[in-house]
Amino acid sequence: MTARIAVIDDEAPNRTYLETLLGNAGFHVQAAAGGNDGVVLVEKERPDLVLVDLMMPEVDGFAVCERIRKGPAGADIQIVVLSALDGLDAKVRALEMGADDYLVKPVESRELVARLKAMLDGAERLRQQGSLARGRLTVVVGAKGGIGTSTVAMNLAALQTVGKSPEAVVLADLAVPVGTLGSMLNIQVPDQWAWREVLEDGAASVHRLSSYLMRNSQVPLRLLPGVRRGSSYRDMRPEAISSFATSLRGLAETIVVDLGNQPSPFAPPLLREADVILVVVEPEVICLELTGQFLSRLRETGILSHRIRLVISNPHGSLQLSRTEVATALKLEVAAMILYQRDEFSAASKRRLPIVIQQPQAPLVGQFKELMQALAAV
Ligand SMILES: Nc1ncnc2c1ncn2[C@@H]1O[C@H](COP(=O)(O)OP(=O)(O)O)[C@@H](O)[C@H]1O
Ligand SMILES: [Mg+2]
Repeated sequence: MTARIAVIDDEAPNRTYLETLLGNAGFHVQAAAGGNDGVVLVEKERPDLVLVDLMMPEVDGFAVCERIRKGPAGADIQIVVLSALDGLDAKVRALEMGADDYLVKPVESRELVARLKAMLDGAERLRQQGSLARGRLTVVVGAKGGIGTSTVAMNLAALQTVGKSPEAVVLADLAVPVGTLGSMLNIQVPDQWAWREVLEDGAASVHRLSSYLMRNSQVPLRLLPGVRRGSSYRDMRPEAISSFATSLRGLAETIVVDLGNQPSPFAPPLLREADVILVVVEPEVICLELTGQFLSRLRETGILSHRIRLVISNPHGSLQLSRTEVATALKLEVAAMILYQRDEFSAASKRRLPIVIQQPQAPLVGQFKELMQALAAV
């Protein structure tokens, strides 16, 4: 794949020079004439590397570094500052603001190209090592809306972060047409959100996909926000979604997907790819009936029961059926029961945090732990 570089420089001759030089060296180059436009370009285009000038009016190179790093595109992009300032203070400050390297102008053109190539190759090697890793994929799905599917997915993901690095867990929102995990985790997802490469090109490397991950500093996991209403997800080819599912696995040690309750093009490939399918069921007859139908469709498509577990979730407080009745009717093991806990859930939902993080001492956290342990054994 051609590496993509964004050039941010307020002086037109510099932009032209860099566009020509880097274009001739085989990179795909896009340029912006100021700090603000530069940050917008980076967030929209998600280049592999940003080459930014330091002294620019209004938004300078320091601010650009900081804003890119803190923004949604920030984790994986390499940033190189190119500046006429040759002082130690400027270099240290740029590095502190998130730059990966600092080059003093004028730079020999051959040296510049060689350095950028080395940086991009190094990053590509790391990515390939990362993409060989296969995280464990748990897909959470319900046969009906409003039964706690998203709540279970979010808390299960949050619980698995305990004692791990913040990079270890990814929660993916594939509940279409409207996923709720962004609001539930207080992460603002832009209206026009879509994973562009996945939808348009039908494929996304682990690296590109990881550039779409977002986080809320209070929750030690990363969220892949769902596509928004109006995006073209319905037209995606099944092979593209299969390769998307494989890329998802490369994102972290643990990946939890909220698949929602609607039929969607994401469902078949993800259910095939999953290590564990967790079916959320409310202990009442209508939900039981819909879940039964859902499970028989799964079995018809060749998905074997040994990967499927049930979790009873009781967001409305009615306990028409017991754990044994649910297990017997659906001929599957019930991994755990998340009981109705109005006050706890409403407090967590007001604070927009998973209950296992907001109230780690609450007794119902034990129910999620039981769930996690039961799933670890699958
Ligand atoms: N065990 C429970 N007890 C009380 N309220 C719950 C419980 N589980 C979920 N809820 C609440 O029920 C509502 C619906 O949950 P949600 O996870 O969005 O359902 P779904 O994804 O199935 O549509 C949310 O307001 C959530 O806080
Ligand atoms: Mg939901």
